[in-house]
Parts: sequence; C-alpha cells; structure tokens
Amino acid sequence: MQVYVYRNEEQVAQAAAMIFAAELAAKPNLVLGLATGTTPIPTYQRLIALNRDGLIDFSQARSYNLDEYVGLEPGHPASYRYFMNVKLFDHINIDKANTHVPSGLGDVKKNADAYDAAIEEAGGIDLQLLGIGHNGHIGFNEPNPRAFIYKTNVVTLTPSTIQANARLFDKEADVPRQAISLGIGGIMNARRVILLATGRGKAQAVRDAVKGDITPLLPASILKAHRNAQFLLDEEAASLL
Ligand code: F6R
Repeated sequence: MQVYVYRNEEQVAQAAAMIFAAELAAKPNLVLGLATGTTPIPTYQRLIALNRDGLIDFSQARSYNLDEYVGLEPGHPASYRYFMNVKLFDHINIDKANTHVPSGLGDVKKNADAYDAAIEEAGGIDLQLLGIGHNGHIGFNEPNPRAFIYKTNVVTLTPSTIQANARLFDKEADVPRQAISLGIGGIMNARRVILLATGRGKAQAVRDAVKGDITPLLPASILKAHRNAQFLLDEEAASLL
C-alpha cells in the first residue's frame, strides 16, 4: 500500500476524483466499487462537477456498492441505495441500470451469492473506493477474531458502528443490526483500491492499518497485502503515523 497525505479533505477529494477521471479515461466501461458514508461525499461532489463540465464520462461505467443494511427498502432515506442516488447517481450520466447495491431484502444469503457472481460476470472491480471505520472496518467487514470473510456475506454490526451510523436515523434503536457486505475477497480482488480517511477520529484506525500487523481484528490492515492500494489521507487522519 502507498500512503499519500494531503492538507485537508478537499484535497483528498480532488486527488480521488482525479484517479477516477484517469481510470475512466483509460477504460470507459470501468467497473467501479463504491462506498457510502460521510468520507466520500466531497469526492462525489467533485465527480458531479467534472461530469457537468464534460471532463468525465460515466455513460459506459458500471458500479457495485460495498454494502446495504438488512431490511431497509431501497427508498428508505437511510438506505445506501437511496444515498447513492441522491449523492451521486442522480447527478451524473451513469445508466442507473448499470448501478448495483446489494439487496438486504428477502433471502439475503442468496442475494450475497448472486452479488459475487454478478461482479465476476462484469469482469471484476477495476477501481474500489473505500472509507475506514473507527474500528478499522472496510465495507461492513467488522473486526472478527475468527477469520477474514472472503465472500459477500451477512454481517452483524458492532455497537461502535451502530453508534457511528445512528446519525442517519431518527434514533439509534432504528439502526439495523445486520448488513450485507462485500467480503474481504471481493475487496482484495479489485485491481486498484483507494481508501480515503479524513479527520482526527480516523487517525488511530489508519495508524493501526498502516503500521500494525495484518490482522482480522483490524480489517483494513489486509490492504497491506494488496498489490495496488493507495491510502489518501488528510493531515488529521495521518496525525498518528
Ligand atoms: C460504507 C462503508 C463503511 C464506511 C466507513 C466509514 O459503504 O462500507 O466501511 O466507509 O464506516 O464511514 P464514514 O465515511 O461515514 O466515516
């Protein structure tokens, strides 16, 4: 993994957006792996501006999101499908039919297997965008002493993740306790990974991922073993390195 430190989150977003632009220019039908959460929002805003100005074209791109809550309808304002539509897809020239978010409804195990098969069918993820949880999770792959889980799977959210995500719900009790998430294998199979981290709150997780051992207790640490992963950090997120 390579680590790049920028002055602030705007510069992180600018760098990330430029990577998207370069990769899409090289391969217009790029398969994107996308993330939700607060961290990528400035990057998505830049992608929207670049698309509006005709500098980046999503017309042939395909996308697969990392995760979704179990039990939330796509129209629920806290669902990740809703987030992606509102924060990105509604504002760029991507064909919505080419955008995919795992479904947390119905037979979720079956959905998980179908999601992996669909990504494989698409040729695999070319560019995977990630954030990092305060506990070092990537996607919703929570710290788990047993093993890195390879495939897309149903995960039980930790109390710290439930608390961190409660801001998007009326109250903490409304946060679903389970999610469907691309597994560690799906992330590691991406040809390129960029992980964004901004703010002091991410500094410890970033430090542990970059400087600590590779361990399932800090899932992002696996990215040290990825052949083409870059961490794009602001100074606060990098402050413990
Ligand atoms: C989101 C995701 C999560 C977030 C992480 C950081 O799709 O999979 O791993 O990237 O929880 O979230 P924020 O950016 O809100 O701090």
